[in-house]
Formats: sequence, C-alpha cells, structure tokens
Amino acid sequence: MTDIFTIAIDGPAAAGKGTISKAIAARFGFAHLDTGLLYRAVGARVLAGADPIEAAKSLQAQDMERDDLRSAEVAQAASKVAVIAEVRAALVDFQRAFARRAGGAVLDGRDIGTVICPNAEVKLYVTASAEVRAGRRFKELTGKGEATSLETVLADVKARDARDMNRAEAPLKPAADAVVIDTSELSIEQALQIALTEISALK
Ligand code: DC
Repeated sequence: MTDIFTIAIDGPAAAGKGTISKAIAARFGFAHLDTGLLYRAVGARVLAGADPIEAAKSLQAQDMERDDLRSAEVAQAASKVAVIAEVRAALVDFQRAFARRAGGAVLDGRDIGTVICPNAEVKLYVTASAEVRAGRRFKELTGKGEATSLETVLADVKARDARDMNRAEAPLKPAADAVVIDTSELSIEQALQIALTEISALK
C-alpha cells in the first residue's frame, strides 16, 4: 500500500462507523480521526458560553480530551454548531492535513467523502435504520450510567439525522462513488468484514 492513503467513512449517528473505523485503522496501521469529536468539542465550548465560530477557530487538542464529549447534550450541540458554515470552514485544513499524513489515515464523519476528501482512495457510507441505531445508542448511554429512555434516544437520533441531512452546508449523504453498508441486520464483525473486502479490492 502506498504511503498516503485515505479511507473516508461517513454515515448517521450510531450506525457503527466509529467501531468500524477504529478496527480498519488498527488492521492497516493507519491513523484514525473521529471528526465528530471536533464538532462535539466546539459544541461543548458553546454550551459553556463560547461563541461557536470563535470556538472552532481556536480549538485546542485539550478541548478534544474533555470527558463529557460523548453525552447526548453535547451531541445535539455539535449537530447545531455543525450547521454554521464558518464553523465547518475553520475545521477543514486540520482534517485535510490529517487525511494526507504519511502512513495512511481513516477519517469518519458526515462529509468526509463528499467535501473533506473527495479524492479519498476508499469511501464507505455506513448506515442503519433509525430504530436500530437508537437501540444501540440507548445501550451505550445507559451502560455509561446516563439516565434516558429509548423514546428519547430515538427522537434525538431522528432530530440529529434531519439536521445533519438537511443543512445547506456539507449535508450528510453518500458520495456518488461510496460503497454503502447497511448494518441494520449485521453484527459489527460482519460489517467490518464487508468493509475490509471493499478496501482490499481497492487498494
Ligand atoms: O459522529 P458524531 O455523532 O460524534 O457527530 C456529532 C455531530 O457533529 C453530528 O450530529 C454532526 C456533526 N458532524 C458533522 O457535521 N460533520 C462531521 N464530519 C462530523 C460530525
């Protein structure tokens, strides 16, 4: 495999793209960037009173290390700041530089194959029904001790899907040349096998 190789993985919340991305990165020895964390870090700073555009422009590595970034509240805040064109613009260079670093990179998010890395060597779009995704996220949140209900999580997932898919700037959608993997009826291991087969065919 050549030194510079980008794998772009997009999809809605809780479709399994994070787990698949990490496993692919580990398998090939590539670096991994969860780009949702950038938006979550901006969202968390906004919840603490910051201006979204200023927060995006001055994002520091330590902002990504906060331990509250995985909460449902921060997820919604991330989805809201992600609508703002200037917020997205402030995060582009960092993501593109990461994608072209030596040794290969896996980036997962919403607009990696469409906007950030339109020339990525591999593009995957990992999805699943809203109900299946809500079920997975509910387990994850309650496993961490967050008090919530399945109905609340499903409503959150649907609200985030609608905002992420219908925004004017870099909306969530599969790139024209992305391979779509629907994980609704698959285990993570099965989905990973499909992803690895696709990558092997393209590398
Ligand atoms: O992947 P995630 O659930 O951590 O993402 C949180 C929010 O950040 C998501 O609802 C929309 C936004 N996001 C985005 O707009 N573009 C990305 N590349 C990644 C995330």
